[in-house]
Formats: sequence, C-alpha cells, structure tokens
Amino acid sequence: MNSLYRHILEHQSTAVVLLDGELRVTYLNQSAEFLLAASNERSHGDHLRMLLRGDEDFEAELEAALSKEQSFTRRITHLKALQARSGEITVDYTVTPMTDCEQGGLLLELQPLDRLLRINRDAAQLTLQRTTRHLVRGLAHEIKNPLGGIRGAAQLLAREFDSSPLTEYTDIIIEEADRLRNLVDRMLGPNQLPQYRRSNIHRILERVRQLITVEHPGRLHIERDYDPSIPELNCDPDQLLQAFLNVTRNAAQALEDTEDAVITFRSRTMRQFTIGDERHRHVVCVDILDNGPGIAPDMIERLFYPMISGRADGTGLGLSITQSIIAQHGGLIECESEPGSTRFTILLPLESTDEGA
Ligand SMILES: Nc1ncnc2c1ncn2[C@@H]1O[C@H](COP(=O)(O)OP(=O)(O)OP(=O)(O)O)[C@@H](O)[C@H]1O
Ligand SMILES: [Mg+2]
Repeated sequence: MNSLYRHILEHQSTAVVLLDGELRVTYLNQSAEFLLAASNERSHGDHLRMLLRGDEDFEAELEAALSKEQSFTRRITHLKALQARSGEITVDYTVTPMTDCEQGGLLLELQPLDRLLRINRDAAQLTLQRTTRHLVRGLAHEIKNPLGGIRGAAQLLAREFDSSPLTEYTDIIIEEADRLRNLVDRMLGPNQLPQYRRSNIHRILERVRQLITVEHPGRLHIERDYDPSIPELNCDPDQLLQAFLNVTRNAAQALEDTEDAVITFRSRTMRQFTIGDERHRHVVCVDILDNGPGIAPDMIERLFYPMISGRADGTGLGLSITQSIIAQHGGLIECESEPGSTRFTILLPLESTDEGA
C-alpha cells in the first residue's frame, strides 16, 4: 500500500476493517485495533466473527453486500466486540464491496459512538454534580455560622449553671451542635487543596485492602488484578486513599450477607481517553468490583449526590466525597451494577493533557 495512504488510514478515527470474500480479516487500521482490542497482525486470516458479532442478520447482510455488490449503512447498532473490555459497542457502520480492486472483498467502516454518548452523559453528570456542590456549599455555610453562635451560647450557659443538673441540657445542645458541624464538614468534602506528589496507585490500593481486611476479618476476600507497568501518578495519596476506601467500604458493607464474598481491585491503563472536555493520552483505570446484591437502578442515577443512602445507618456522603476527590484530580467515577456484580470505575489522567489532540 502506498505509504501516504497507509499513513492516512492509520490516523483515521474511523475503524477500518478489510475482509476477503469469505469474511476473513485482511487488515485492521489502528482505530479498528483499538476498538476491537485486536492486533492487525494476529487477526490476519481470522473470520470476522472471532472479533465482532451482531444480531442474526449481521453476517448474512455482509454476504449479501458482497454477492449483490451493494453497499449499505446501519446507524446506532449494538455489536459485540468479543475481545474488547467493554464487550458491547455502539457504532454506525458502512459496508462497501470492493469489487473494483484486485483483492476484492469488503470494506467495513465503523464509527464508534460509545465515547460520544459517554462524553455527553459525563458532561451532563459533571454539570449536575457541580450545581449540587455549589448548593451544598452555600447551605453548609449558612448552617455553620449560626451553629457556632448556638454552641458558644450553650457553653456560656453551662458555665452559669455550674454544677446544676441543668448542664445536662446544655451538654445536649453542645453535642448536637458538634454532630451537626461534623456532618456539614463531611458534606463539604476535603477542605484542603490536594497535595500532589508522585505516588504508586497500587500502594494506595494495598493500604485500602489492609484497612478493609482489618474491618471485616475473615469474611471477605480481596483479589488483586494489577497491571504492574502502571507508572507513578501525580496525585494526593491521602485523598485517593479516602476515595478508594469509601467505595471499598460500601462494597464490604453490601457483601455482609453474601457467601463467598469477593471484592476485586483491577488496574489498567487506557489510551486516548476523554474526561469532561479534556482528551488525555493515557489514563489509569481502577475497577473495584464486588459480587454483592447490586444497586437498584433508581438509586444508581443519584448515587453520587450527598445524602443519598440505602443503609439505615448511612449518611450518604461516602460516594459524594469520593466523587469530589476524583473530580479534583481531573478524573471521573462511574458505576455499573446488576445483582451479583457491581463495578465502580475510577479514571484518573496519568499525564498532562494531550494539547495537540
Ligand atoms: N457496592 C455496592 N453495593 C451495593 N450498594 C451500594 C454499593 N456501593 C454503594 N451502595 C449504595 O449506595 C449508597 C450510597 O453510598 P455512600 O457511600 O454515598 O453512602 P453510605 O454508605 O450510605 O453512607 P456513608 O458512606 O456516608 O457512611 C449506600 O447506602 C448503598 O445503598
Ligand atoms: Mg459509604
């Protein structure tokens, strides 16, 4: 192939798959390799169905395109990318028979939509979260100011009452004022700016593992599936510890009645990933999975808002704190859940943003 044309193909954001007359792969460009998590070299000669499957008509339509020499386009189609981490992908795709060139075969162009759909969804989520935080901050401020006055006045009264039994009442006022202040402080999240330094993400996860194992002795198994090649991350390790701890503690609590309770920590890197409106060359992806009862669909939408809790003794602040720590690090947290399988995914940029992209 002419090297300029190959160069253009390799840099296209559209995934290009070339198939022979038997629907065997003859070429994948870089975007296709990335989308299907397959290598051009190793997939050569494999049947398309080893990489990609659709509904029952999918292959028949490709074969018909070949025999009738007719191209077609399908929009917003769900396909199964067998080797890809995400499994199902959403694409627009165009099929073009290439009868006019000597190798013949089919050209399959896939335009991945998941990212676009995800970027839109994440942007909406981030905006909502920012608005809630703004609201919470305003409210917290309004509560804390008079609270200081109430507590101070109760202390003065207690001094006046000296050793009278009435101090029992002033003690209650002081204790309740303190409880409310702690709650409001937790609602506000970390009150310090992150202290960034190069840290090993696995060291943080190992600390979480230790702490949770101590909190739930003998009942829980925490599995590790780490990618040891992940370089150090510029982050505040104490805050990230808190963020991961909140998620893992929820999982441990949800697993209380589960037999063979397992939490899994998984770390990977991903290339060319957009968080909010910034595209990053590399991001770290940490999954925290559990095999507990899962989260109800109506709860998932509101999970990261403060005061949302499914537990009788929960304050509903853990995940909202985690979310604000991750957002301060320029990252993103997402959740997918069904009974028996809950996954929290935390994405953190690994390096400065890809300005050229
Ligand atoms: N892995 C999980 N499995 C099942 N439910 C979960 C899981 N993680 C979170 N939840 C649900 O999400 C709710 C919100 O979690 P969050 O950590 O924000 O608050 P909380 O745990 O209720 O209280 P807090 O963490 O402030 O003590 C939980 O109450 C629980 O119902
Ligand atoms: Mg919690």
